[in-house]
Amino acid sequence: MEINETHIYFIEELVENYAGVLLERLGNRRKIAKKISEQMRLFNIDLPSEYIHKLENYKEEQACMKSLVESLTVGESYFFRNLSQFEYLYKQILPEFVRLHGLSRPCKIWSLGCSTGEEAYSLAIILKAFQSRNVAFDFDLRACDISNKSLEAAKNAEYTQRSFRIPLEEIENALGFAVSRYGLYHTEFKPSRTLLNAVKYDYLNLKDLDSLHILKYSDIIFCRNVLIYFDSDLRDALAEKFYDSLFPSGSLFLGETESLSNGSAQGFDLNNMKNSYIYKKADIQGDKCGKNI
Ligand SMILES: C[S@@+](CC[C@H](N)C(=O)[O-])C[C@H]1O[C@@H](n2cnc3c(N)ncnc32)[C@H](O)[C@@H]1O
Repeated sequence: MEINETHIYFIEELVENYAGVLLERLGNRRKIAKKISEQMRLFNIDLPSEYIHKLENYKEEQACMKSLVESLTVGESYFFRNLSQFEYLYKQILPEFVRLHGLSRPCKIWSLGCSTGEEAYSLAIILKAFQSRNVAFDFDLRACDISNKSLEAAKNAEYTQRSFRIPLEEIENALGFAVSRYGLYHTEFKPSRTLLNAVKYDYLNLKDLDSLHILKYSDIIFCRNVLIYFDSDLRDALAEKFYDSLFPSGSLFLGETESLSNGSAQGFDLNNMKNSYIYKKADIQGDKCGKNI
Protein backbone atom coordinates (compact mmCIF):
# COMPACT_ATOMS: atom_id res chain seq x y z
CA MET A 1 0.00 0.00 0.00
CA GLU A 2 1.23 3.48 -0.94
CA ILE A 3 2.18 6.07 1.67
CA ASN A 4 -0.34 8.92 1.54
CA GLU A 5 -0.56 12.40 3.05
CA THR A 6 -2.37 11.17 6.19
CA HIS A 7 0.37 8.63 6.90
CA ILE A 8 3.02 11.29 6.45
CA TYR A 9 1.13 13.56 8.81
CA PHE A 10 1.26 10.91 11.58
CA ILE A 11 4.89 10.09 10.90
CA GLU A 12 5.79 13.77 10.92
CA GLU A 13 4.42 14.15 14.42
CA LEU A 14 6.20 11.04 15.68
CA VAL A 15 9.55 12.10 14.22
CA GLU A 16 9.18 15.54 15.74
CA ASN A 17 8.34 14.05 19.14
CA TYR A 18 11.34 11.78 19.00
CA ALA A 19 14.07 13.94 17.41
CA GLY A 20 12.64 17.46 17.33
CA VAL A 21 13.21 17.52 13.60
CA LEU A 22 10.56 19.21 11.44
CA LEU A 23 9.97 17.21 8.25
CA GLU A 24 9.14 20.37 6.30
CA ARG A 25 12.79 21.44 6.71
CA LEU A 26 14.11 18.17 5.27
CA GLY A 27 12.79 18.21 1.72
CA ASN A 28 9.59 18.01 -0.27
CA ARG A 29 6.75 15.59 0.47
CA ARG A 30 7.57 13.34 -2.48
CA LYS A 31 11.16 12.87 -1.33
CA ILE A 32 10.00 12.16 2.20
CA ALA A 33 7.35 9.66 1.04
CA LYS A 34 10.05 7.88 -0.98
CA LYS A 35 12.35 7.61 2.04
CA ILE A 36 9.53 6.31 4.22
CA SER A 37 8.70 3.65 1.61
CA GLU A 38 12.38 2.62 1.50
CA GLN A 39 12.36 2.26 5.28
CA MET A 40 9.23 0.11 5.17
CA ARG A 41 10.93 -2.19 2.65
CA LEU A 42 14.04 -2.30 4.85
CA PHE A 43 11.95 -3.57 7.76
CA ASN A 44 9.80 -5.83 5.54
CA ILE A 45 6.62 -3.95 6.37
CA ASP A 46 3.88 -3.68 3.72
CA LEU A 47 1.20 -1.72 5.52
CA PRO A 48 1.79 1.95 6.45
CA SER A 49 -0.47 1.45 9.50
CA GLU A 50 1.80 -1.35 10.73
CA TYR A 51 4.86 0.84 10.15
CA ILE A 52 3.28 3.76 12.02
CA HIS A 53 2.46 1.41 14.88
CA LYS A 54 6.14 0.37 15.06
CA LEU A 55 7.19 4.01 15.10
CA GLU A 56 4.68 4.79 17.84
CA ASN A 57 6.36 2.17 20.01
CA TYR A 58 9.76 3.79 19.77
CA LYS A 59 10.19 3.85 23.51
CA GLU A 60 10.15 0.03 23.60
CA GLU A 61 11.66 -0.69 20.19
CA GLN A 62 13.81 2.05 18.69
CA ALA A 63 15.25 0.39 15.56
CA CYS A 64 12.59 1.63 13.11
CA MET A 65 12.54 5.17 14.45
CA LYS A 66 16.33 5.48 14.62
CA SER A 67 16.72 4.20 11.08
CA LEU A 68 14.01 6.55 9.77
CA VAL A 69 15.55 9.60 11.46
CA GLU A 70 18.97 8.62 10.12
CA SER A 71 17.60 8.40 6.61
CA LEU A 72 15.72 11.71 6.84
CA THR A 73 18.21 14.01 8.54
CA VAL A 74 20.66 16.06 6.53
CA GLY A 75 24.29 15.28 7.34
CA GLU A 76 25.88 17.89 5.10
CA SER A 77 29.28 18.97 6.46
CA TYR A 78 32.82 19.80 5.39
CA PHE A 79 36.20 20.59 6.92
CA PHE A 80 36.59 24.09 8.36
CA ARG A 81 33.06 25.08 7.37
CA ASN A 82 32.68 28.73 8.36
CA LEU A 83 36.41 29.16 8.55
CA SER A 84 36.30 32.49 10.39
CA GLN A 85 34.83 30.75 13.44
CA PHE A 86 37.81 28.38 13.64
CA GLU A 87 40.15 31.33 13.20
CA TYR A 88 38.40 33.12 16.06
CA LEU A 89 38.59 30.01 18.23
CA TYR A 90 42.31 29.59 17.59
CA LYS A 91 43.34 33.22 17.88
CA GLN A 92 40.95 34.59 20.51
CA ILE A 93 38.99 32.03 22.48
CA LEU A 94 41.73 29.54 23.32
CA PRO A 95 44.32 32.16 24.38
CA GLU A 96 41.59 33.76 26.48
CA PHE A 97 40.79 30.36 28.05
CA VAL A 98 44.43 30.02 29.10
CA ARG A 99 44.50 33.60 30.41
CA LEU A 100 41.35 33.05 32.48
CA HIS A 101 41.82 29.53 33.74
CA GLY A 102 45.55 28.95 33.40
CA LEU A 103 46.39 25.36 32.60
CA SER A 104 44.77 23.91 35.69
CA ARG A 105 41.96 22.04 33.91
CA PRO A 106 41.15 20.76 30.41
CA CYS A 107 39.08 22.92 28.08
CA LYS A 108 35.81 21.06 27.51
CA ILE A 109 34.50 21.33 23.96
CA TRP A 110 31.51 19.85 22.14
CA SER A 111 30.56 19.34 18.54
CA LEU A 112 26.79 18.73 18.77
CA GLY A 113 25.15 17.37 15.64
CA CYS A 114 28.63 16.44 14.44
CA SER A 115 27.40 14.41 11.48
CA THR A 116 30.31 12.53 9.84
CA GLY A 117 33.01 14.24 11.88
CA GLU A 118 34.39 17.00 9.65
CA GLU A 119 33.60 19.64 12.28
CA ALA A 120 35.05 17.57 15.13
CA TYR A 121 38.30 16.85 13.27
CA SER A 122 38.61 20.52 12.29
CA LEU A 123 38.31 21.31 16.01
CA ALA A 124 40.85 18.59 16.86
CA ILE A 125 43.33 20.17 14.43
CA ILE A 126 42.84 23.60 16.02
CA LEU A 127 43.21 22.21 19.54
CA LYS A 128 46.29 20.16 18.69
CA ALA A 129 47.90 23.15 16.97
CA PHE A 130 47.18 25.32 20.00
CA GLN A 131 48.55 22.60 22.27
CA SER A 132 51.79 22.48 20.29
CA ARG A 133 52.35 26.14 21.26
CA ASN A 134 51.06 25.72 24.85
CA VAL A 135 52.37 22.33 25.88
CA ALA A 136 50.52 22.11 29.18
CA PHE A 137 47.17 23.00 27.57
CA ASP A 138 44.76 20.09 27.68
CA PHE A 139 41.31 19.56 26.20
CA ASP A 140 38.36 17.22 26.27
CA LEU A 141 36.71 17.14 22.84
CA ARG A 142 33.41 15.30 22.45
CA ALA A 143 31.23 14.95 19.38
CA CYS A 144 27.64 13.72 19.31
CA ASP A 145 24.89 13.01 16.85
CA ILE A 146 21.53 11.28 16.71
CA SER A 147 22.68 9.21 13.73
CA ASN A 148 24.73 6.14 14.63
CA LYS A 149 25.50 5.70 10.95
CA SER A 150 27.10 9.16 10.84
CA LEU A 151 28.99 8.46 14.06
CA GLU A 152 30.41 5.25 12.56
CA ALA A 153 31.47 7.16 9.45
CA ALA A 154 33.08 9.79 11.67
CA LYS A 155 35.10 7.15 13.48
CA ASN A 156 36.18 5.58 10.19
CA ALA A 157 37.24 9.03 8.95
CA GLU A 158 37.13 8.24 5.23
CA TYR A 159 36.02 11.22 3.21
CA THR A 160 35.03 12.01 -0.36
CA GLN A 161 35.56 15.21 -2.34
CA ARG A 162 32.38 16.73 -0.82
CA SER A 163 34.11 17.20 2.54
CA PHE A 164 36.89 19.35 1.08
CA ARG A 165 35.33 22.61 -0.06
CA ILE A 166 37.65 25.30 1.24
CA PRO A 167 41.00 25.63 -0.54
CA LEU A 168 43.86 24.54 1.71
CA GLU A 169 45.67 27.85 1.11
CA GLU A 170 42.65 29.75 2.42
CA ILE A 171 42.54 27.63 5.58
CA GLU A 172 46.28 27.93 6.16
CA ASN A 173 46.32 31.69 5.50
CA ALA A 174 43.53 32.23 8.00
CA LEU A 175 45.04 30.03 10.71
CA GLY A 176 48.69 30.71 10.10
CA PHE A 177 49.88 27.09 10.31
CA ALA A 178 50.08 24.11 7.98
CA VAL A 179 47.03 21.90 8.47
CA SER A 180 48.81 19.18 6.47
CA ARG A 181 50.86 18.65 9.65
CA TYR A 182 47.66 17.16 11.05
CA GLY A 183 46.80 15.09 7.99
CA LEU A 184 44.50 17.46 6.09
CA TYR A 185 45.41 17.91 2.42
CA HIS A 186 43.59 19.35 -0.62
CA THR A 187 41.23 16.41 -1.08
CA GLU A 188 42.49 13.95 1.48
CA PHE A 189 42.41 13.47 5.21
CA LYS A 190 45.11 11.19 6.58
CA PRO A 191 45.13 11.91 10.30
CA SER A 192 47.50 10.35 12.80
CA ARG A 193 46.07 7.96 15.38
CA THR A 194 46.64 10.71 17.99
CA LEU A 195 44.39 13.09 16.10
CA LEU A 196 41.69 10.44 15.62
CA ASN A 197 41.87 9.64 19.32
CA ALA A 198 41.49 13.31 20.18
CA VAL A 199 37.72 13.08 19.55
CA LYS A 200 35.31 10.99 21.61
CA TYR A 201 32.13 10.19 19.66
CA ASP A 202 28.80 9.38 21.23
CA TYR A 203 25.10 9.09 20.47
CA LEU A 204 23.04 12.04 21.73
CA ASN A 205 19.49 13.11 20.95
CA LEU A 206 19.20 16.87 21.50
CA LYS A 207 15.42 16.52 21.84
CA ASP A 208 15.98 14.50 24.99
CA LEU A 209 16.65 17.52 27.19
CA ASP A 210 17.16 15.42 30.35
CA SER A 211 20.13 13.68 28.76
CA LEU A 212 21.87 17.02 28.23
CA HIS A 213 23.17 17.13 31.81
CA ILE A 214 26.38 15.72 30.24
CA LEU A 215 27.02 19.18 28.79
CA LYS A 216 27.39 20.67 32.26
CA TYR A 217 30.65 22.56 32.91
CA SER A 218 31.54 23.17 29.30
CA ASP A 219 33.77 25.86 27.86
CA ILE A 220 32.86 25.76 24.19
CA ILE A 221 29.81 24.38 22.38
CA PHE A 222 29.64 24.07 18.61
CA CYS A 223 26.04 23.39 17.59
CA ARG A 224 26.04 24.50 13.99
CA ASN A 225 23.45 23.88 11.31
CA VAL A 226 21.33 21.75 13.62
CA LEU A 227 18.91 24.20 15.28
CA ILE A 228 17.49 25.09 11.84
CA TYR A 229 15.70 21.73 11.81
CA PHE A 230 13.93 22.37 15.13
CA ASP A 231 10.93 24.50 16.07
CA SER A 232 11.35 27.68 18.10
CA ASP A 233 10.34 26.06 21.42
CA LEU A 234 13.05 23.43 21.16
CA ARG A 235 15.59 26.00 19.97
CA ASP A 236 14.81 28.16 23.02
CA ALA A 237 14.95 25.17 25.39
CA LEU A 238 18.33 24.16 23.97
CA ALA A 239 19.64 27.70 24.20
CA GLU A 240 18.75 27.67 27.90
CA LYS A 241 20.48 24.30 28.38
CA PHE A 242 23.58 25.56 26.62
CA TYR A 243 23.58 28.72 28.70
CA ASP A 244 23.26 26.77 31.95
CA SER A 245 25.95 24.30 30.87
CA LEU A 246 28.59 26.83 29.89
CA PHE A 247 31.07 28.27 32.34
CA PRO A 248 30.98 32.08 32.50
CA SER A 249 32.89 33.38 29.44
CA GLY A 250 32.11 30.09 27.65
CA SER A 251 31.24 30.27 23.96
CA LEU A 252 28.40 28.96 21.82
CA PHE A 253 29.00 28.72 18.08
CA LEU A 254 25.98 28.53 15.77
CA GLY A 255 25.77 28.06 12.01
CA GLU A 256 25.78 30.77 9.38
CA THR A 257 22.01 31.04 9.09
CA GLU A 258 21.22 30.50 12.76
CA SER A 259 20.72 32.85 15.66
CA LEU A 260 19.08 32.72 19.09
CA SER A 261 15.77 34.42 19.76
CA ASN A 262 15.99 37.73 21.63
CA GLY A 263 14.85 36.08 24.86
CA SER A 264 17.36 33.22 24.59
CA ALA A 265 20.22 35.53 23.72
CA GLN A 266 19.91 37.39 27.02
CA GLY A 267 22.92 36.77 29.20
CA PHE A 268 25.11 36.20 26.16
CA ASP A 269 27.35 38.80 24.55
CA LEU A 270 27.04 38.53 20.80
CA ASN A 271 30.07 38.61 18.53
CA ASN A 272 29.42 38.81 14.82
CA MET A 273 32.24 37.06 12.98
CA LYS A 274 31.95 37.82 9.26
CA ASN A 275 29.05 35.49 8.37
CA SER A 276 28.20 33.97 11.71
CA TYR A 277 27.35 34.60 15.31
CA ILE A 278 29.27 33.57 18.39
CA TYR A 279 27.52 33.85 21.73
CA LYS A 280 29.68 34.36 24.80
CA LYS A 281 28.17 33.74 28.19
CA ALA A 282 28.53 37.00 30.05
CA ASP A 283 31.03 36.78 32.88
CA ILE A 284 28.73 38.05 35.60
CA GLN A 285 27.62 36.91 39.01
CA GLY A 286 24.10 35.40 38.95
CA ASP A 287 22.42 34.63 35.66
CA LYS A 288 19.09 35.08 33.96
CA CYS A 289 17.61 31.81 35.22
CA GLY A 290 19.19 31.90 38.65
CA LYS A 291 20.75 28.53 37.83
CA ASN A 292 24.36 29.50 37.96
CA ILE A 293 26.91 26.73 37.68
C1 LIG B 1 23.67 19.61 8.66
S1 LIG B 1 24.41 18.52 9.80
C2 LIG B 1 25.53 19.64 10.62
C3 LIG B 1 26.92 19.07 10.71
C4 LIG B 1 27.97 20.02 11.33
N1 LIG B 1 27.55 20.49 12.63
C5 LIG B 1 28.24 21.17 10.42
O1 LIG B 1 27.77 22.29 10.68
O2 LIG B 1 28.91 20.97 9.41
C6 LIG B 1 23.09 18.33 10.99
C7 LIG B 1 23.32 17.14 11.94
O3 LIG B 1 22.41 17.26 13.03
C8 LIG B 1 22.04 15.96 13.41
N2 LIG B 1 20.79 16.00 14.19
C9 LIG B 1 19.54 16.26 13.76
N3 LIG B 1 18.67 16.14 14.78
C10 LIG B 1 19.40 15.83 15.89
C11 LIG B 1 19.05 15.59 17.24
N4 LIG B 1 17.78 15.62 17.68
N5 LIG B 1 20.04 15.29 18.11
C12 LIG B 1 21.34 15.23 17.69
N6 LIG B 1 21.72 15.45 16.41
C13 LIG B 1 20.75 15.75 15.51
C14 LIG B 1 21.89 15.23 12.09
O4 LIG B 1 21.95 13.82 12.26
C15 LIG B 1 23.06 15.80 11.28
O5 LIG B 1 24.18 14.98 11.38
